[in-house]
Amino acid sequence: MIHTFLFSPSGTTRKYAVAMTEAFNDDSQLIDLTHGACEIECDLVDGDTVLMLAPVYAGRIPEMASKLLRQIDGHGMKAIVAVVYGNRDYDDALLELADIATADGFELIGAGAFIAQHCIFPKVASGRPDNSDIAKAVEFVKRAQKAGQLDISTIKGNHPYKKAAPTPLHPKVDRHKCRECGICARECPAGAISVENPQETDAEKCISCCRCITVCPDKARRFGGMKYRMIAPLFKKMCSKRREPEWFVAE
Ligand SMILES: Cc1cc2nc3c(=O)[nH]c(=O)nc-3n(C[C@H](O)[C@H](O)[C@H](O)COP(=O)(O)O)c2cc1C
Repeated sequence: MIHTFLFSPSGTTRKYAVAMTEAFNDDSQLIDLTHGACEIECDLVDGDTVLMLAPVYAGRIPEMASKLLRQIDGHGMKAIVAVVYGNRDYDDALLELADIATADGFELIGAGAFIAQHCIFPKVASGRPDNSDIAKAVEFVKRAQKAGQLDISTIKGNHPYKKAAPTPLHPKVDRHKCRECGICARECPAGAISVENPQETDAEKCISCCRCITVCPDKARRFGGMKYRMIAPLFKKMCSKRREPEWFVAE
């Protein structure tokens, strides 16, 4: 049985999670942690394999995801970890996720970093993952399945990790388009949007994860403002070169 734990506010990590899980051709369950605590009963039995996937935020694993992933008891079962990033860099995030799996007590057999459209700057890596990305993700899982225990010191990244840094950019509301349906407030992983007045966002709580943009049926939320308009073209220029998946498995 395959148990896939994922955190995916804007949905791209989920695409990889589905493709990697299907690559096993085995019974499986997806455990989506985007809304916090795991809702699905999850009994890990010897012989099962766990997949853990998370997006990269400022070169790290989002704190909300790492807190939840640290609660899993791996008791010696095999695990594969993967991070998904927006074509800038994954810095220390893959090493951090590998460390989490190891600290949980899993035997790590693979670690991979994959690329997706940048949720804050969607012109970067636009349309990814594409067919080639998904094919590589499947190949990674198949190789990891056949491999032995991975030496964590071979994974790219540094200790101590990069300091976690929240972005100062937050999605804005177009008050003409917003019908106050409240979907964004219900779906926000950080509980940053007021249920009574969905046009109000608590900037202190907002983790800029783009969930509200992704789920809004009226396209009433997006990044904007002077700071964003200044940064976006520079960021696009800096991150326009296509990056390819990288993975670490024991030879
Ligand atoms: C707050 C925040 C910080 C991010 N930091 C990085 C980063 O350091 N490097 C990078 O390449 N992409 C970065 N991204 C882009 C995401 O990693 C990318 O869009 C990912 O696909 C999001 O996953 P999701 O669609 O599952 O939510 C960041 C996105 C957010 C929201």
